[in-house]
Amino acid sequence: MDLGVNIDHIATIRQARGTNYPSVLDAAVLAEKAGADSITLHLREDRRHMQDKDLYELKPLLKTKMNLELAPVNEMLKIALDVLPEDVCLVPERREEKTTEGGLDLIKNFSNIKNISDELSNAGVRVSLFIAPEIDQIDKAIEMKVPIIELHTGNYADFKGEEKDKELIKIQHATQYARKAGILVNAGHGLHYENVQNIAKINGIHELNIGHAIVAKALFVGWENAVIEMKEIINEFAKS
Ligand code: PXP
Repeated sequence: MDLGVNIDHIATIRQARGTNYPSVLDAAVLAEKAGADSITLHLREDRRHMQDKDLYELKPLLKTKMNLELAPVNEMLKIALDVLPEDVCLVPERREEKTTEGGLDLIKNFSNIKNISDELSNAGVRVSLFIAPEIDQIDKAIEMKVPIIELHTGNYADFKGEEKDKELIKIQHATQYARKAGILVNAGHGLHYENVQNIAKINGIHELNIGHAIVAKALFVGWENAVIEMKEIINEFAKS
């Protein structure tokens, strides 16, 4: 199981003071050295963390791949077609949210998301759709012929007790269902050092995208060690 390290919150710290440090470029290079299988970043419409120039500077530097998270809007499509990351993960976006809340609604927004996804695919970008672990959403992703979905693990992370167990089962079923249809399954959101184990155990998940917890851990153990520790947990539990 691969680990995509999301470096948005390195940029959050930089933007908090308008400095040019900490460097997102150094963060990406060191994360790759520490075992990251891809570097994930989200260019939000309000530019609260990543800036346009970060994308252009990061793209030639990365040895693994760039997984660019974007809202399915024309402004972001234009930028993606210019930067040409290996992967684009389309995510819903609301300005007032603290972070991405919930997955895309592929039923309500079918034609807009399909158009954007087709344009990216035609340019050679692999498209992933960030969705809740719901079968009706996966059916729409199959209909859109995308190669990848990313299952939203935010509810799993937030819920407690029986509700958490149920959400885990939903993620397991959704993974099996999408794999049977030939879609690659990634997962992420809200995963940290204490809750990633059960997700890592799920057979068929290709990549976990994790950001906030790794940046937070890095404050105490250092950036590379934080990536190494997460990678070690994933490797240990993915095998079991
Ligand atoms: N996957 C997607 C699609 C996301 O939008 C985010 C948050 O940017 C993540 C994964 C990572 O979430 P977290 O920062 O909670 O690990």
